[in-house]
Formats: sequence, C-alpha cells, structure tokens
Amino acid sequence: MADKTATLTFGDKSIELPIYSPTAGPDVIDISKLYGQGDVFTYDPGFTSTAACDSTITFIDGDKGELLHRGYPIDQLADSSHYLEVCYLLLYGELPSAAELEDFESRVTNHTMIHEQMMNLFRGFRRDAHPMAIMNGVVGAMSAFYHDSTDITDPWQREVASIRMIAKMPTIAAAAYKYTIGQPIVYPRNDLDYASNFLRMCFSVPCEDYQVNPILSRAMDRIFTLHADHEQNASTSTVRLASSSGANPFACIAAGIACLWGPAHGGANQACLEMLKEIGTVDRIPEFIARAKDKNDSYRLMGFGHRVYKNFDPRATVMKQSADEVLELLGVEDNPILQVAMELEKQALADPYFAEKKLFPNVDFYSGIILEAMGFPTSMFTPIFAVSRTVGWISQWKEMIGDPKMKIGRPRQLYKGATLRDYVDIEKR
Ligand code: SDX
Repeated sequence: MADKTATLTFGDKSIELPIYSPTAGPDVIDISKLYGQGDVFTYDPGFTSTAACDSTITFIDGDKGELLHRGYPIDQLADSSHYLEVCYLLLYGELPSAAELEDFESRVTNHTMIHEQMMNLFRGFRRDAHPMAIMNGVVGAMSAFYHDSTDITDPWQREVASIRMIAKMPTIAAAAYKYTIGQPIVYPRNDLDYASNFLRMCFSVPCEDYQVNPILSRAMDRIFTLHADHEQNASTSTVRLASSSGANPFACIAAGIACLWGPAHGGANQACLEMLKEIGTVDRIPEFIARAKDKNDSYRLMGFGHRVYKNFDPRATVMKQSADEVLELLGVEDNPILQVAMELEKQALADPYFAEKKLFPNVDFYSGIILEAMGFPTSMFTPIFAVSRTVGWISQWKEMIGDPKMKIGRPRQLYKGATLRDYVDIEKR
C-alpha cells in the first residue's frame, strides 16, 4: 500500500496521489483516481514512464544492464540452468526440486504433439508464406481444437493451456518451417530434451537418421533461455491487454506473436541479419553508420538500442559467447557476416552518436548470427523468438488473470480531432 504521496497542483486543484515503493526499481505514482478527482488524463505515448501493472516475474535495471527472473540474474540462469527449468521458475516463482522438475518436464514432453487435424491448417498456406504468418494462424486456431482449456476462470484449465502452449510451440514453429521448404513435417520425440527435439523437428529428414549435436542443442537451449521473458515489452503488453477482455489464451498468444513480428521488436533479429548481409563487407560500414546517424534518414541499425537498457543488454553479452562457441564448432569463425557484425559493433560503439544516445547491441544482434550458422533461414529467427517468449507471455497472462484487481485495459486519449458539427447533405458539400 502507499507509504508516501505526491501532490499534483494545477489550476485551482491540488490532488494527493499515493506513491508505492517496489522491491526494486523506481517508485510509482498511482494516478488511477486522477481523472475522477481532477478531470484530467496523463499523457504518455509509448508508455515510456508508465507502469501498466504490478508484477513479480521479471525485473530489468536498464542502467546496470541487469535482468532478473524471479530474482535470479540471467547470466547465472544461462550458465547453470536450462530453458524448461527457467520456464518452471517463471511460471511458479521458485526453482524446482529435482522431483518437481522431472514432473514438469514430463508434462511438457507429453503435450508436444498437436491435434492431427491441425496438420491440415499448414497446407492451407502458400509455400512461400512467412513462418510467422503460419504460426500466427495456427496458434490462434488452437482455440478451435482445445476447448477444454479455454475457460480462463478455471485455474486447472489455465494450467493445462499453459503447458500446452509451451509444449506445442516448437512443434508448430518447426512444422511451419518444414512446410515452407517443402519437406515433410516431423513429429516430436519424447526421448529428446526440448531444444534437441526442436532441432530434430527442423532439420531431420525421413531418408536418414538425425543426430543432435550437443553443442548446438546447448546453444539452442541458451537462445530459448535468453529470450524467455522481459517485463512489459510490446508483445507481452499485447498479450496482457488482449487477455484483460477475457479472451482465450490461444487467441491472446496469437496476438503476442503478431506484435513480436514487427522489426522494432522481435523481428529485429531477422532485420539485423538482412542488414549485415546488405552491408556485405567491412568497408561499407561507415556508409550505414552515417545513414543511422542522419536525422533526415529514418534508417536504424537493427540489433542496436533498447527502450530500457541504457548501458548494455546482458543477454547480448551471453549471446556473444554462444556465437563464438557455435561458430568455432562449425568452423566458420571467419564467417564474413560475423566479421561485419564485429566491426560494426566496434565502429558504432566508438562513435559519439551511439554513446550519447546509449545505443549498443541488444539481444537480437548476435542471436541471428548463431541461428544462421546453425542453418536456420532468417525467416525462422522471429518464430524461434516466439517459441521462447511463449513462457513469458503465459507467465504474465497467468499473473494478470489470477489478480483479483484485474480489469479490462482501456486507455484514454488526447483528442485533437473535429469538435461537434452537423452532418452536411452531399448536394450541399
Ligand atoms: C527487442 O522491450 C523489450 O524488452 C524488447 C525486447 C524483448 O526482449 O522483448 O528486448 C526485444 O525488441 C529488442 C529491440 C530490437 N529492436 C531493434 O533492434 C530495432 C532497432 N532499434 C530501435 O528501433 C530502437 O532502439 C528501439 C525500438 C529498440 C527502442 O526505441 P525507443 O526506446 O523508442 O528509442 P527512440 O526510438 O526514442 O530512439 C531514441 C533515439 C532517437 O534519436 P532522436 O530522435 O532522439 O534524435 O535514438 C535513436 C533514435 O533515432 N535510435 C537509433 C536506434 N535506436 C534508436 N538510431 C540508430 N539506430 C538505432 N537502432
């Protein structure tokens, strides 16, 4: 509850607003009564200074470059944990015991298949459809197949929907990929871990056995872990807002997928690789840095900058280590794309423009390099981000739905349109 207050004085009004103190981060001023008491709205397009909810799941300190999931720092989780254990932590709030983890992994593993009739959905898309378009459609369609886990007022159905989403996203993403390259869809295997299962569903073909490379599956698992959740980012806020109307979880996750697809958000990893390929050679880097700095050019360096991190993105640091390991394993250390990426990072970070605006590589800068080296096309980069972020969306969704204070989200506006005027018949216009 409030332990301090802020006084807002304007015109002949003076309004006391409660201030709440968090366990970490800035205090918040509760303005929920402002309109009722002062007949004014606050104005914050892009929500740069607005907390939309209280949460206990993830905390970011943008100045320190710190990312905590239920208090545990992301670099420790990336080094010592693995994706499904992080999923448990995000969903239930504590690290699991060995027995709890075994039960959770078993529940996820045994939900990885999708309803057989859903396989028909893939065939309705053109082969050149973007995998994100297919995922968006198929995930939304899940509400037509899993009616027994769409009643969000039933905690058991919320739990089943959560497990189903986390378990089936890799199967759907891999099936979307296989469909677009004209290869048969591969079913999940229960004897493989989450990341290995995904790699096999993407890269195995019926004509030969597929052996998962443990270094690649470890790198895949680390990419899943690094993208799992990130406070109230655009796609998570989309899932929360969609869910606040009581819509079913599958439809709300589909809304999150749609938002993530944008190049300013989860689509940045694909856009970053395409930018590196467009730059092509190290000698063209100054041309692109000049464009990014040019106020009259809307061009931005993809994979650089972040709304919250103003020092460095701790995920990028871990991702860069993985990039070195994977490229060394694959013998592509002299990958021309990586050479351009490393030189671009060096030149950008030495440039005052980027230092002043606190722009540096974010999580998307290195993830694309690893994924390309692993054999994924750029069109699969954002689907992989969506697979990983599903647990974040679901965890935030469960937190919101389970909050008795929850109400439908309905922002107001600063109206600048026409004021009242009478209709004019066409012959008088
Ligand atoms: C993700 O929110 C999350 O947590 C997201 C995410 C997650 O895990 O969910 O971390 C994942 O989305 C990472 C970000 C991926 N996007 C990109 O890499 C796309 C390129 N970056 C941007 O477009 C931009 O940096 C944003 C969208 C990430 C952040 O934008 P902001 O906070 O709204 O900052 P801004 O647009 O107000 O920019 C501030 C200034 C501007 O210059 P001025 O108008 O003040 O002169 O910095 C400039 C911008 O022009 N700027 C850039 C730049 N990003 C910002 N200039 C060149 N290149 C860039 N990449």
